[in-house]
Amino acid sequence: MGSGIAHVAAAAGFSVVLVDVGDSLLEKGRATIDRNLEREVSKGKRSPEDKKAALGRLTLATDRARLSEADAVIEAVVESEPVKKELFADLDARLPARTILASNTSSISITRLAAATGRPDRFIGMHFMNPVPVMGLVEIIRGLATSDETAAVVEALARKLGKTPISCNDFPGFVSNRVLMPMINEAIETLHEGVAAREAIDGIMKLGMNHPMGPLELADFIGLDTCLSILRVLHEGFGDPKYRPSPLLVKMVDAGWLGKKTGRGFYEYAAKS
Ligand code: 3HC
Repeated sequence: MGSGIAHVAAAAGFSVVLVDVGDSLLEKGRATIDRNLEREVSKGKRSPEDKKAALGRLTLATDRARLSEADAVIEAVVESEPVKKELFADLDARLPARTILASNTSSISITRLAAATGRPDRFIGMHFMNPVPVMGLVEIIRGLATSDETAAVVEALARKLGKTPISCNDFPGFVSNRVLMPMINEAIETLHEGVAAREAIDGIMKLGMNHPMGPLELADFIGLDTCLSILRVLHEGFGDPKYRPSPLLVKMVDAGWLGKKTGRGFYEYAAKS
């Protein structure tokens, strides 16, 4: 998701510093951005010069100190609350008071992440959808202490990135994943109970509901580990058994079958050349 966010920000004219923990990950991110910008060039949506200029606005760094002049930082690290809190506490200590901190978390409480910093009023959720360059929405999540000014600045930022911001309050799963994940979980249970084959479940939802992907294919696309972690946040956050993750999902994650990214999930995927 980080490379997708960097892609749309650089393409929109912002100077972007993409920070990751290692050079090989950064290089992978840059290659993804290059490939997806090229996709836009080949579709005639962007000129080759425009692509070159966008790549020219992108700086890769492993040192967080390179963010010292940022007006806004959008975090897209692993979905782990302790990892995100450590990162935000460190950024809070390094960055100027004006810098807005945003998290692309898919379900972790924005209010709790904000409380790890000394600037909860300048902290907000910016939840992009995958694939970021294609999807129109940014779900904006206001923590308990997020100021009106921060919300207004971040909504304007999302619009500059070519996205439509839609706001909600901080509650487990926000709106998107509170509604999406129970559907995916139910599709997995339907498969588990032998009600229908994977292709039939996905085909019924695609043809019957006009969804671009069936729920099992979408789960593979999102990542089964991510789906499981979001369902656990919903289950724990609401204490309601209706969010209990399907045992089949748990077993697949235990096996390391995480979907498209590992080559195997509900479907099998050829390795990227
Ligand atoms: N990066 C950039 N662009 C991509 C892309 C990618 N990874 N994959 C596809 N595209 C572009 C293509 O260039 C194409 O552009 P065009 O419309 O200008 O021609 C367009 O997307 C459609 O691509 P294709 O025709 O090759 O493929 P599809 O028609 O099958 O569309 C899809 C692919 C856009 C991924 C579509 O299947 C889709 O919308 N799927 C549902 C995605 C979805 O639900 N996302 C939300 C997931 S939930 C989430 O992210 C939240 C998180 O917290 C879990």
